[in-house]
Amino acid sequence: AKNVGILATEIYFPPTCVQQEALEAHDGASKGKYTIGLGQDCMAFCTEVEDVISMSLTAVTSLLEKYKVDPKQIGRLEVGSETVIDKSKSIKTFLMQIFEKYGNTDIEGVDSTNACYGGTAALFNCVNWVESSSWDGRYGLVVCTDSAVYAEGPARPTGGAAAIAMLIGPDAPIAFESKFRGSHMSHVYDFYKPDLASEYPVVDGKLSQTCYLMALDTCYKYFCHKYEKSEGKQFSLSDADYIVFHSPYNKLVQKSFARLVFNDFTRNASSVDDITKEKLGPFSTLTGDESYQSRDLEKASQQVSKALYDAKVRPTTLIPKQVGNMYTASLYAAFVSLLHNKNSELAGKRVILFSYGSGLTSTMFSLRLHEGQHPFSLSNIATVMNVAGKLKSRHEFPPEKFVETMKLMEHRYGAKDFVTSKDCSLLSPGTYYLTEVDSMYRRFYAKK
Ligand code: ACO
Repeated sequence: AKNVGILATEIYFPPTCVQQEALEAHDGASKGKYTIGLGQDCMAFCTEVEDVISMSLTAVTSLLEKYKVDPKQIGRLEVGSETVIDKSKSIKTFLMQIFEKYGNTDIEGVDSTNACYGGTAALFNCVNWVESSSWDGRYGLVVCTDSAVYAEGPARPTGGAAAIAMLIGPDAPIAFESKFRGSHMSHVYDFYKPDLASEYPVVDGKLSQTCYLMALDTCYKYFCHKYEKSEGKQFSLSDADYIVFHSPYNKLVQKSFARLVFNDFTRNASSVDDITKEKLGPFSTLTGDESYQSRDLEKASQQVSKALYDAKVRPTTLIPKQVGNMYTASLYAAFVSLLHNKNSELAGKRVILFSYGSGLTSTMFSLRLHEGQHPFSLSNIATVMNVAGKLKSRHEFPPEKFVETMKLMEHRYGAKDFVTSKDCSLLSPGTYYLTEVDSMYRRFYAKK
C-alpha cells in the first residue's frame, strides 16, 4: 500500500464548557493568569451523562455515517486513552457494539495507554498494519478519547475533553512520511495516576513542563538525524510548513516552538535569520540544564520566533485553546484545527507533529498532505467536521456549575448501581449518552 495515512477525521467535544476568564475570577487567580498566562480561552468538560465511551461512540458513528463507510469495511480498530473506566475491558470492546450489529466481529486491535501518547501509539499501529503483510485490504480506525480533569488547584484550568476518530488507509490525503520519526522514551514521575480510586492525576507541574521541552529537543534531534541520513541535506524548520504540538495549554506550545527555533540556531546558525542569530547568540554557551532554566532565553527565543509562530503554529491552536487539554486527542485536535483553518491550501505541504505523554513517551513525525479524492479530500474533511458550527453551538456554564459537576463526577467515578439524569437536552442529535451503571458495574448508553 502507498501513501498510507489519514483518509478522514471526526471530532466530538462536549457542548458544556466554562470560560477561562470566568474561572480565573472564580478561583481568585490574578486577572489574565489562565487566558494570557496559560493562553487558554475556554474548557470543555463532561457532565454526568457523558464519558470517554459515549464520546468515542459518537465520534465513530458520526465518521462512518458521514463518509458512508460500511462498518464491515473496518478491519482494525485501535483506541488511545488514559481515562480508566475499567482495568481490564478495553474501550475498543464497547465500540464493537457499532460493528456487531452489522455482523463484523473480525476487527483487530485493543487500547493503548500512556498518558497523552496512547493515541499516537494507536495511530502508528494502524498505519503499520496497513503497510504490513497482515493487512487484509480493509480500513483501520483510530480513536483518541479522554476526559482530562484535575483536582482543585493550579492544574484544574488545564483540563478538557474530546474524542477524535481517524480513518486509516492507502492513497490518503494525509500521508505518513514514515521514514522521518524521532522518539524519546524515559522513566520519570512528572504526571501519573497511581491512585486507582481517583480520576485525578498526581502531577508535578514544573517537572512536566521541563520533561516536555527536553523530550521535544531530543525528538527533534533524532528526527533531524533521520531526515539528514535519508535526504543527504540539513533539516531546519524551513523544511516544515506547519508544526503541530501536543497542547496541554497554549503557553507551552508557544514556548515549544521558540525552543525549536533555538535548536535550529544551535544546530546550524546559517538556518536562522540575522536578528535571530544576534538575539540568541548570548545563549549559545548555556548547558542543556541551564537553557531550560533561563527566563531570558525563553523571552528572547519567543520574541524572535513570533512571526514564524504566527505562520507555522497559530493555525493549529484553535480547538486546543477553546476546548482545553484533551490528553490523547489534544495533538490531533490541534491537527484538525489546521485542516479547519487551511483545508485545500494544505495540498503539497509538510506538517510535523510532536506527541508527548508523561511518564514519559514522545515522538516527532511527519505528514505530507495532498488534496485527495472526494470524499477523502482535504476540503471535504474540513466541511464534514464543521468545527466552527460545533464551537458555536456550545453552552457556557458558570464556574460554580462546573465545580458542582466535578464534585458529582468524583462521586460517580468507580461507582455502581445508579441511573443518570438522562438529561440530553444540551446534546445534539446523534450524540450518545450514559443512562445507567447497574449493580454489576455494567454501563448502558442511549443515542439522542
Ligand atoms: N497575567 C498573565 N500571565 C500570568 C498571570 C497574569 N495575571 N499570572 C501568572 N501568569 C503566567 C506566569 O508568569 C506563567 O507564565 P510563564 O510560564 O510564561 O512564566 C503562567 O502564567 C503560569 O503560571 P505559573 O504560576 O507558572 O504556574 P501554575 O502554578 O499556575 O501552574 C501548570 C501551571 C504547571 C501548567 C499547571 O497548570 C499544571 O500543573 N498543569 C498540568 C500539567 C501540564 O499540563 N503539564 C504539561 C505537560 S504534561 C501534560 O500534557 C499533562
